[in-house]
Amino acid sequence: MVKIIIIANWKMNPATLTEAKRNFEIIKKGVRNIKKVEPVICAPFIFLPVLKATNYLKLGAQDCFLGERGPFTGEVSPKQLKSLGVGYVILGHSERRKHSGELTELVNRKIIAALGAGLKVIFCVGSETKKPGKEMRYQLKTGLKGVKKQDVAKLVFVYEPVWAISTSKNKVVATPQEALKGGLYIRDILGKIFDEETAKKAKIIYGGSVDSSNIRGFIKEGKMAGGLPGAASLDPHEFIRMVKAVDES
Ligand code: 13P
Repeated sequence: MVKIIIIANWKMNPATLTEAKRNFEIIKKGVRNIKKVEPVICAPFIFLPVLKATNYLKLGAQDCFLGERGPFTGEVSPKQLKSLGVGYVILGHSERRKHSGELTELVNRKIIAALGAGLKVIFCVGSETKKPGKEMRYQLKTGLKGVKKQDVAKLVFVYEPVWAISTSKNKVVATPQEALKGGLYIRDILGKIFDEETAKKAKIIYGGSVDSSNIRGFIKEGKMAGGLPGAASLDPHEFIRMVKAVDES
């Protein structure tokens, strides 16, 4: 059975290690008997060594750098993450483009490095414009340069329109139909970069104001393989509700 993937992006939260540990433990208990969902917690780097992944609750990072080790002040390598039991890494998030000036060329090098270290990559694409278009095409084409078609199975693509992120200034919640359109657009570009077969099998999820009241719609009507909640995932009970809403449907 292919599991639906629900990935919590905690971003720069919570404020303390005590809270992070407490929230992780609550989630761990709450999702223990889940069958149809793979829940993943993407926590800040600093909490990752303390939060222990299990076979039913995976850990992810929110960024990584290139190579294994070396003179890169402040950076964390994919291999270092892997050594902590981290399985996933988010790359290409719009907040890194906006606040850290990250360019798609660097995202591409990070994707190659992360795959090389055996991490699964949660690759976010999306733009400010309502209709998926050339910006997303650029993100995908540039971001995936040099990625082999057999490695596409190790990627989770996220359609994350910037305008639908809960903290964006003029936020509008996307409809499942808009998510569906974004997903189809990504699949179409993947078909052009790789081939139809690879595109058909690619895992595409949705991010942007996902919560327990709307996640099923994105999966059923939006035909998404899962979700990437940010703000709503900070409440561990709400995250469990999201996972259960999908597991029980
Ligand atoms: P929100 O769920 O807060 O809109 O955040 C979405 C997001 O950026 C996840 O990566």
